[in-house]
Amino acid sequence: MGIVMKKLLDLLSEEAGRAFEAAGYDASLGKVTVSNRPDLCEYQCNGAMAGAKQYRKAPVAIANEVAEKLAHSKVFKEAAAVPPGFLNLKISESFLLEYVKGMAAEEKFGLETSPRPRKIIIDYGGANVAKPLHVGHIRSAVIGESVKRICRYVGNEVIGDVHLGDWGLQMGLIITGLRERKPEMVYFDEDFQGEYPKEAPFTISELEEIYPAASARSKEDPEYKARAMEATYKLQSGNRGYRALWRHMMDVSVADLKKNYGSLNVEFDLWKGESDVHELIPELVAYMKDNHYAYISEGALVVDVKEETDTKEIPPCMILKSDGASLYNTTDLATIMERMRLYRPDEIVYVVDKRQDLYFEQVFRCARKTKLVTPGTELKFLGFGTMNGSDGKPFKTRDGGVMRLENLIRDTREEMLRKIKEGRQMPEEEAEKVADIVAVAALKYGDLSNQASKDYVFDIDRFTSFEGDTGPYILYTIVRIKSILGKYREQGGEIDKALLQEAGNESEKALMMELTGFNAMMQSAAEEIAPHRVCAYVYDLANAFNHFYHETKILGEEDEARRAGLVALLGLTRDVLECCIDVLGFSAPERM
Ligand code: ARG
Repeated sequence: MGIVMKKLLDLLSEEAGRAFEAAGYDASLGKVTVSNRPDLCEYQCNGAMAGAKQYRKAPVAIANEVAEKLAHSKVFKEAAAVPPGFLNLKISESFLLEYVKGMAAEEKFGLETSPRPRKIIIDYGGANVAKPLHVGHIRSAVIGESVKRICRYVGNEVIGDVHLGDWGLQMGLIITGLRERKPEMVYFDEDFQGEYPKEAPFTISELEEIYPAASARSKEDPEYKARAMEATYKLQSGNRGYRALWRHMMDVSVADLKKNYGSLNVEFDLWKGESDVHELIPELVAYMKDNHYAYISEGALVVDVKEETDTKEIPPCMILKSDGASLYNTTDLATIMERMRLYRPDEIVYVVDKRQDLYFEQVFRCARKTKLVTPGTELKFLGFGTMNGSDGKPFKTRDGGVMRLENLIRDTREEMLRKIKEGRQMPEEEAEKVADIVAVAALKYGDLSNQASKDYVFDIDRFTSFEGDTGPYILYTIVRIKSILGKYREQGGEIDKALLQEAGNESEKALMMELTGFNAMMQSAAEEIAPHRVCAYVYDLANAFNHFYHETKILGEEDEARRAGLVALLGLTRDVLECCIDVLGFSAPERM
């Protein structure tokens, strides 16, 4: 474990606080923030304004006294009081250097990891077995993966669970569809006692064809739907043949899901699903009844979850339908029960479409009221908005169908490949590999850079652009740094971060200041479960770097020590950028 570094703004605030104190004011007035007028100063402190009332003094008079105390500060090289009472601050190059050197030397750049790690379960992905992954699932996978990595990076123990939809009506629909196509299959023979075949009687493409056909038919044909519900019921009650078929569907589907998630760098620790808690449901129901939490209403078993302060109607949480069947609720509650038993999490985060927010409100209230969770267990709903097409409606394929995730990746990859080839000569094979990597970044960054709860427009042209707030721009910046460092090494140079030097120009100083914001940014991204904060930071950092790059001779720098210092700064910038994109869930190629 490395040395923990205080956040730069805290150090600056302490210094300003000491000056307030020395001038006879409360030290807490010394709170320093990043300047909102970067043209005038780097940092600012509004403490004199805040203290004016308390001390019955003109703010500018206070600011003047404090500025005087800061005149010989080793931390600030400039402290100016400006009307009506602001303190405009500039950090000293030597202090900045010391801080950045500290970051470069420490593990995780000196990040203050949590002294008491929390155990967090992230419920994301949520694919439905035997249904193709569509763009609705991309957001859950992409956001959830990043949230998992961010929470882990700051020192928590994090478990990612895919929580498959593997137990509902879609399974019964497929069984019914299969039965119609191949009624002679042994799985449908009630008298069959032997062992079922090891090979699945279908491929993933067949499965994905059967499901939509069966689903469409069930909507028109009530008798067909009744059969599908019956099949679902039989499956859940343990019919041997159906269970064997279900196992095949799981194997075929999960293998395909792993491939798809894998191509997005999404990895789950647990591949559990609704079916895993089936056996727990009778116990859950008995517990709810015995403790008088649940009662029968119109034949169904429900738990009231409304509260006095509600401004809108929150319906009761239904545990069992009147026909005794369990619901989505039931499996989610049983899953909470199981997670508490197996993992005792401090927190469970659900990364799900925000249209399910009322549903989760009911589930959370029910879990709390019925004491399935301890009072200290946090249940959080991270609801995300819809990914829209350029027409502002949920994203569709050109012919109006549901866009499948793999096609979305394919289209993005093709566009990326075209742009990469346009930009430079590269052997075809390498260009394709690079396109794979950059396409994932384009897709993920395009999604993650928006606040999760907001809808966003999937704009392939913008997402794949090398300019602007995009994944390819960030990767391009990293590749640019790598290529300079590569040349430096070719010339026999060695990158040593201990050789960092004081900033030699404004853009270099701005880059160093941007680097210092890493720790505070990462912590707030974790606290707010907000990957878009990491995106905003990498974008600012990439801009600061590119500005610096255009203003500064690097390999052409003649002073050897300064050149080594510049190269060290490049190395640190690359490391911070790569750390950020890693928690966002993508990586950079060596060239592009
Ligand atoms: N399978 C669900 C869907 O496609 C998402 C599951 C979300 N997680 C949960 N614990 N309910 O809508």
